[in-house]
Amino acid sequence: MAKAPSFTCQACGASHTKWSGRCEACGAWNSIVEEKPLSAGPASKTLGGRRGTPVMLTDLATEEAPPPRARSGVEEFDRVLGGGLVPASAILVGGDPGIGKSTLLLQAAASFARKGLKCIYVSGEEASAQVRMRAARLGLTDAPVRLAAETNLRDILTTLEAEKPDLAVIDSIQTMWADNVESAPGSVAQVRAASHELTSFAKRHGVSVVLVGHVTKDGQIAGPRVVEHMVDTVLYFEGERGHQFRILRAVKNRFGPADEIGVFEMTGGGLAEVANPSALFLSEREKPAPGSVVFAGIEGTRPVLVELQALVAPSPLAQPRRSVLGWDAGRLAMILAVLEARVGIPFAGLDVYLNVAGGMKISEPAADLAVAAALLSAREDVGVPPETVVFGEISLSGALRPVSQAENRLKEAQKLGFTTAIAPAGSKFGEGSGMRVRTMDDLVSFVGEVFGAG
Ligand code: TYD
Ligand code: MG
Repeated sequence: MAKAPSFTCQACGASHTKWSGRCEACGAWNSIVEEKPLSAGPASKTLGGRRGTPVMLTDLATEEAPPPRARSGVEEFDRVLGGGLVPASAILVGGDPGIGKSTLLLQAAASFARKGLKCIYVSGEEASAQVRMRAARLGLTDAPVRLAAETNLRDILTTLEAEKPDLAVIDSIQTMWADNVESAPGSVAQVRAASHELTSFAKRHGVSVVLVGHVTKDGQIAGPRVVEHMVDTVLYFEGERGHQFRILRAVKNRFGPADEIGVFEMTGGGLAEVANPSALFLSEREKPAPGSVVFAGIEGTRPVLVELQALVAPSPLAQPRRSVLGWDAGRLAMILAVLEARVGIPFAGLDVYLNVAGGMKISEPAADLAVAAALLSAREDVGVPPETVVFGEISLSGALRPVSQAENRLKEAQKLGFTTAIAPAGSKFGEGSGMRVRTMDDLVSFVGEVFGAG
């Protein structure tokens, strides 16, 4: 039998059998450390036989009521959870340091506490006085949230067992320290052990646990990736530093739809809910200019309109720049290649910049056509028609593919005062959105109709 791997990448959690300077899995440098195995493994060759106790089995048909959910009243937060907090669930909230995770969870815990849930907030990063100060700034001092500043996992679990709260927030998982693991806090072994203890505690005692996890690029602190498969729900809190908008995104949810987003705005008094994100994302829009296109997207269960901005300029470099913010760089390369190969519009020798306005990140292929429109509009210095939204997927052949929920996209656009949509033929538009829809089969006819033969 091969020797068990004992080297772990601190950035991505990949196991290696020997040390090397660079992790082959994630490409991080100097991130691999040796780790002691958690247990020596089973003593005998096989498990089973007589030593175990038989487990109770039940049928699939066993009737069970849907889990009663607790709502915090913070609509954007509840929706991302899939309609409220499920008892005994484990939730990971990941995000860059300083993005607002502690603020969000203190506000959420206070809202749950005001609804009658017993909430405990354990901070391993800040002293209780600091958390209280923040609470005062957020106007939450009257909420019956119990605080603790502790990092010793054994003490925390003992406390939770005695207090039996409905919700425990652990901020952050990287600061927790299990005394039965010989590793520094923040290492993959500690993060994994602490998460495992806390999630199994949640299941055993019916306590919902929220784990806060920092994501860092340099690999110094174990990313919460190793925790993702242990918890029921993984939420990411994202946003650009310079922007006020924060987006809470469900990337995994055993109790609701993944890809759901909640939109918040960071204000002097904490995070404020943004009930109508389209209006917010478009509010910064200046007069329609070449390179600017409004994409009618769907995020989770909700239509969201965002502005895409492109800039195309002659490049002084041998290898022109391709700079993307909020959209996939590989997907941009593909669209540039399709434009060149299928429509004959080259981008060689041109720098290309593409931004999603407002700090939003889009992963839907439905944005392809809007991206192509923004690129062409910037390259030709021709604005797309005003009051127009664009959506549709582009295939490698240059054909336009219909996308889901076309009707919802149109309705949202109409609500915000748009009159025309450009979309792939064959989409299901439904009845009575009141929008004028221009449908096209492929990129060639799109370029011809919108930009006059390219
Ligand atoms: P924080 O919740 O501490 O981030 P994290 O826990 O993810 O590291 O948020 C820190 C940032 O939020 C900080 O830069 C200040 C800003 N902030 C506000 O703008 N308004 C507020 O009311 C609060 C509490 C924080
Ligand atoms: Mg924090």
